[in-house]
Amino acid sequence: MQNFIFQNATKIIFGKETELQVGQETVAFGKKVLLHYGGGSIKESGLYDTVVESLTKQGIEIFELGGVKPNPRVSLVREGVTICKENQIDFILAVGGGSVIDSAKAIAAAVYYDGDVWDFFEGKANVTDCLPIGVVLTIPAAGSETSGGTVITNEDGWYKRAVGHESMRPKFAILNPVLTYTLPSYQTACGITDMIAHILERYFTNEKNVELTDRLCEATLKTIINNAHTVIEEPTNYAARAEIMWAGTLAHNDLLSTGRIGDWASHDIEHEVSGIYDIAHGAGLAIIFPAWMKYVYKHDVNRFIQFANRVWDIEIDLNNLEKTALAGIKKMEQFFSSIGMPITLSEANIGEEHFEEMAKKGTERWPLGNFVKLHQSDVVNIYKLAK
Ligand code: NZQ
Ligand code: ZN
Repeated sequence: MQNFIFQNATKIIFGKETELQVGQETVAFGKKVLLHYGGGSIKESGLYDTVVESLTKQGIEIFELGGVKPNPRVSLVREGVTICKENQIDFILAVGGGSVIDSAKAIAAAVYYDGDVWDFFEGKANVTDCLPIGVVLTIPAAGSETSGGTVITNEDGWYKRAVGHESMRPKFAILNPVLTYTLPSYQTACGITDMIAHILERYFTNEKNVELTDRLCEATLKTIINNAHTVIEEPTNYAARAEIMWAGTLAHNDLLSTGRIGDWASHDIEHEVSGIYDIAHGAGLAIIFPAWMKYVYKHDVNRFIQFANRVWDIEIDLNNLEKTALAGIKKMEQFFSSIGMPITLSEANIGEEHFEEMAKKGTERWPLGNFVKLHQSDVVNIYKLAK
């Protein structure tokens, strides 16, 4: 096991009607708040009104910036930075999913920087500090509600890039499973796929003697798998929604990566796809993760056998270990398909025309992954396996 420091300071407020506490939580950090949200789902559900009422009750002055798109754009981040700087905003409240939260984080970091926010994403400048952020989460998926990372897309060249800093972790995250009842089943499934991927990125490690975190990963994966069909078939099933919502946070709050080095190649390979084609990140992962697995499983067949056996209950065939490993990958693909995810690029109407370009963009700074280091030609091969 590697040495590690684990610190995740986000206060989690979980359960029914917890969004009513948002004003009270926010006022502890400031009286001038940027309320940041997406394309309108929070207005349709009534959550917007609830949040505004709760903030107003605390005497908080609200500045608004809606319109965050899935795969959030740097142009809107720049607008947010201007609003914050011109109005001396002291807190950003993100109401929505990973895209809104990531956009809020990028704004929050850029307020402390005189140059252009994209410099952070190109490695030309480092994040030093952030305005405090709070979250009311409406989709369990990206795990951004407690993560120290943000992923933003630059329309100029369609680069999708990530940046991380401890100060970006939200001060609080309000998680009410009831707020996820309105999610379309496709978005629910994308979220489920993303949280599974966050665990798998950590699970496929070269680190030995990580039994506890292996078991925590497997337990979280099994819980997600056990509840996935229920939330899709019965969107208002509180018990199942609650399991999925909490699992989504635990999948990405860094507890499951303590003492181990994760891989993250599948995420990087997928970000190139959603950067160019603007598909949902979760759908992209359902396509890329199985292809990555097929490409690398021989590197550590035993780890893939453990995955097949402990997560998918596949009996180990001692006479044919590779068969067991491949059966686990197949089971995972079938599961993604069963919840309505595409598992090939062609199902998402994506052809071969950008394979070389995406692989070049993805690997131009460094090779991808840690379990196996991947270079440009490897990434092209993975896109080919995902055809
Ligand atoms: O924009 P609105 O109208 O709110 O609609 C959203 C959006 O269209 C809708 N939605 C959200 N909650 C809803 C709802 N519709 C009805 N009822 C609700 N309760 O769902 C759509 C998707 O929302 P989005 O925020 O894009 O989803 P998600 O949370 O999956 O975030 C995806 C983004 O997060 C990044 C991804 O790359 C992607 O850009 N990631 C961020 C990470 C991080 N910061 O730690 C890690 C992840 O690996 C990921 O890369
Ligand atoms: Zn992800």
